[in-house]
Amino acid sequence: MEPAPIPYGLMEDCAIGIYQGKINAILPMSEFEATRYTGKLCDAEGRLITPGLIDCHTHLVFAGSRATEFEQRLQGLSYTQIIEQGGGIHSTVRATRQASEQELYELALPRLQHLMNQGVTTLEIKSGYGLTEPDELKMLRVARRLAEENPIRISTSLLAAHVVPLEYSSQPQHYVDWICDELIPVVAEMELADSLDLFCESIAFDAEQTRQLFAAAQIEGLALKGHMEQLSNLGGSRIAAEFQALSVDHLEFLSEQDISALAASGTVATLLPIASYFLQQQQKPPVEALRRAKIPIAVASDFNPGTAPILSLRMAMNIGCINYGLTPEEALTGVTYNAAKALGLEHLTGSLSPNLAADLVIWECEHPAELSYQIGPDLVYKRIFGGVESHD
Ligand code: NIG
Ligand code: FE
Repeated sequence: MEPAPIPYGLMEDCAIGIYQGKINAILPMSEFEATRYTGKLCDAEGRLITPGLIDCHTHLVFAGSRATEFEQRLQGLSYTQIIEQGGGIHSTVRATRQASEQELYELALPRLQHLMNQGVTTLEIKSGYGLTEPDELKMLRVARRLAEENPIRISTSLLAAHVVPLEYSSQPQHYVDWICDELIPVVAEMELADSLDLFCESIAFDAEQTRQLFAAAQIEGLALKGHMEQLSNLGGSRIAAEFQALSVDHLEFLSEQDISALAASGTVATLLPIASYFLQQQQKPPVEALRRAKIPIAVASDFNPGTAPILSLRMAMNIGCINYGLTPEEALTGVTYNAAKALGLEHLTGSLSPNLAADLVIWECEHPAELSYQIGPDLVYKRIFGGVESHD
């Protein structure tokens, strides 16, 4: 999946050597046979092998449901109107605050298992439905525990700047100051988050607050990400580029000027096709301009109860192809190599290369376009995480 002249970088009739959890060699079968290897063998019998899939943007840990809001939206109420009435993200915040840490873990575990069964070996999980110190820490601890107790790598993001909590609505700046001065240092000290994320939007945080939050997180050594230009353009992506953020996500309202800034910084453009499908957004991210500027494009599920309650990374690939005009090759690169880049993990996982983790999926198919094309039957034949096989 690394940039290559051959479509998908596809190699045929090869053997992959795995030693101590890492890929140590990729050889043509003829050379492999000449080594007279006598150790453990797994014959993939002509099946396709890809890097393990990476879902680089999820809100997997939360309580409650927003099904009745879904009904309201279908009757004409907008996402913005719902949040302005104290619903939307606020509704999930209420339910998540009420849930115990154990309850949140038990709600998240089957979601995690579902993703693992689809071939996901790395994922990102955000906080952002707690918005108080104990509740944000609770969410992040659940995400860390999911990684400790399951064969998967999880990168965590502090998303306390998801929305201004209702108790701060008369003094939003106080909330931002509190995140910067108190919460970020505590989370960094406890090593509960790998990055800081925020929502730069008129219903959330503005450009100046984005700058303030990024600066505070950078001092504490956190990587940076942002929900940017989803419903309007506030210039968040340009600020993210200035701060060399790992990724900017959503991007329906990204401008030409933003694209030049991103191209210069190496920031990944993460597309979330399920969210815009679910919100019935007409505005599409400028895929052709991103391509022209050679900006790495990642694709993620954005799984969350409000805008993307569809727990399927391959569905995100499929909708990315249909609605955004991605090629199946771009979609697959978007959930492997570029998704690893969006998490700063490209030196560890995301492609099949010597010295990278042996995270791979053997698929019940031969051509990689199948992965964007066919939704339904489970195509995973074997899932291998760090050299160890695990699949239900
Ligand atoms: O990625 N844009 C903001 N955040 C989430 C939605 C969160 C929610 O509605 O609960 C998103 O779309
Ligand atoms: Fe999101």
